[in-house]
Amino acid sequence: MQQELFDQLRTHQLQIAKISLQEMFNADSKRAEKLSLETNGLIFDFSKNKLTEETLDLLLNAAKSQGIQAKIQAMFNAEKINNTEDRAVLHTALRSEKTSLLLDGHNVMDDIHAVKIQMAEFCRKIHTGEHLGYTGKKITTIVNIGIGGSDLGPVLICQALKPYRQAGINIHFISSVDGYMFNDIIADIDPETTLFVVASKTFTTQETMTNAHSSRNWFLAQTNNNTAAIAKHFIALSTNAKAVAEFGIAAENMFEFWDFVGGRYSSWSAIGLSIALYIGWDNFAEFLAGANAMDKHFNETTDLRQNLPVVLGLIGYWYVDFFDYRSLVISPYNTRLTRFPAYIQQLEMESNGKSVKTNGDSVNYATCPIVWGDSGINGQHAYYQLLHQGTQVVPMDIIIAASDKFSNQEHNDILWSNALAQAEAFMTGKTYATAEAELLAQGMDAVKASEIAKHKVFAGNRPSNMLVLPEISPRYLGMLIALYEHKVFVQGVMWEINSFDQWGVELGKQLAKKVLADIEGGAISNHDSSTTTLIQHYISTRK
Ligand code: F6P
Repeated sequence: MQQELFDQLRTHQLQIAKISLQEMFNADSKRAEKLSLETNGLIFDFSKNKLTEETLDLLLNAAKSQGIQAKIQAMFNAEKINNTEDRAVLHTALRSEKTSLLLDGHNVMDDIHAVKIQMAEFCRKIHTGEHLGYTGKKITTIVNIGIGGSDLGPVLICQALKPYRQAGINIHFISSVDGYMFNDIIADIDPETTLFVVASKTFTTQETMTNAHSSRNWFLAQTNNNTAAIAKHFIALSTNAKAVAEFGIAAENMFEFWDFVGGRYSSWSAIGLSIALYIGWDNFAEFLAGANAMDKHFNETTDLRQNLPVVLGLIGYWYVDFFDYRSLVISPYNTRLTRFPAYIQQLEMESNGKSVKTNGDSVNYATCPIVWGDSGINGQHAYYQLLHQGTQVVPMDIIIAASDKFSNQEHNDILWSNALAQAEAFMTGKTYATAEAELLAQGMDAVKASEIAKHKVFAGNRPSNMLVLPEISPRYLGMLIALYEHKVFVQGVMWEINSFDQWGVELGKQLAKKVLADIEGGAISNHDSSTTTLIQHYISTRK
């Protein structure tokens, strides 16, 4: 970034840091109104953040100087912005209604459309009973075998949209290679009515392939080695046709996607087939349409001050690089979004957890924060203590639905009151004088009250974003996920990093192969003494 703009932001931060959030609200009765955005019914109130209109102006100038608009266009227009893998980044095309988008002279929309037809048709066959199990029974159980982006999205979306599920269909997920997960699930399923969906972009991921092979072996053992039955009970979602064929899944049972779809951006692709089987094709199409609405907002809102993903991304950037807040907590209040933090964790940390710029230079600033969280209401009774009174400030995204026809009013009122009260408490805090006065009013003697009051002080001035969905429906869930995808993109532009590769996951994979060979072969290769001792310990204790 241009040094001058960076310096302006630095100087400005020193001024902003002197003003509390409460003072900002006191100074402007219209603050909430001014610092809120809305698109397609999704409300984003960012007024409880350490910023002013001037901050936004400076951040937006910085974003423009990074060429953000041209970079957004480059992504949507299929330029190969994932430079280290020489790939375009086209998850947005998966939910686009366009009919033409050229990549290397080829219209990728034709491919996308053809796979969507294949997926919709397969859903129809499963749901109507045209595709039956090998003994003629209807398929009632989906087992999604995948990890990372081939698991986290489907898990989140199926949990969030459970009320929309197809009657008579249930779903399980096997992600970890821990045999317990596999054993636990096969104990509960019937081979005659189960469809195994092997979801892997590469079809080489050790955990997924191990679970896929174990599932096939289990299936064959249960069916008296009926290899012909595999075609009715195993399908593959992948970019790797050769490996799928080698595994023994026929071409017609493979649902393809392409290297221009990143794993953590893949729920919109064939990877979404487990979701579509669970919630039905029409609901899945709505989910895509919701994301598409957010794509249009992001791509077409050229007044960046009104662009929701841009503002969300810049606020995060502001905190990491100018306030040194290195952690972000995601607090969804609706139980159906409990897996949202885990999903966003991969999305943000695998995308922007980098220390080398796109051009190969090392960064000399902080990039992606630690992203974590859980259901907000559960967090209140666990880690919110630290967030209120701990030594570090952790910005929070609160996500909540305005109404939930699958909940009930009394419970929803309590949920909302808690979400709002927490955001208010983080911001306002409680002074020593107030804490002491409360204790005295409760009848505590003055000496004790002056001691105990110290422990009841809340520094306050802790920021939060509030995102309000009209409801947790396929459409709004699609919009919400796309919002965060674009937020990640914006931050990648600010940090000058490629958000679409993930080389940092490779080293552990390589070493795991070496360690496994040592364990299986019994001869330990060259490692540090800690690793060697632990391998020896494992070899001596394993059955
Ligand atoms: O190891 C990380 C990763 O490559 C993720 O990026 C990806 O989502 C996950 O593994 C699963 O990969 P695949 O879909 O190829 O099995």
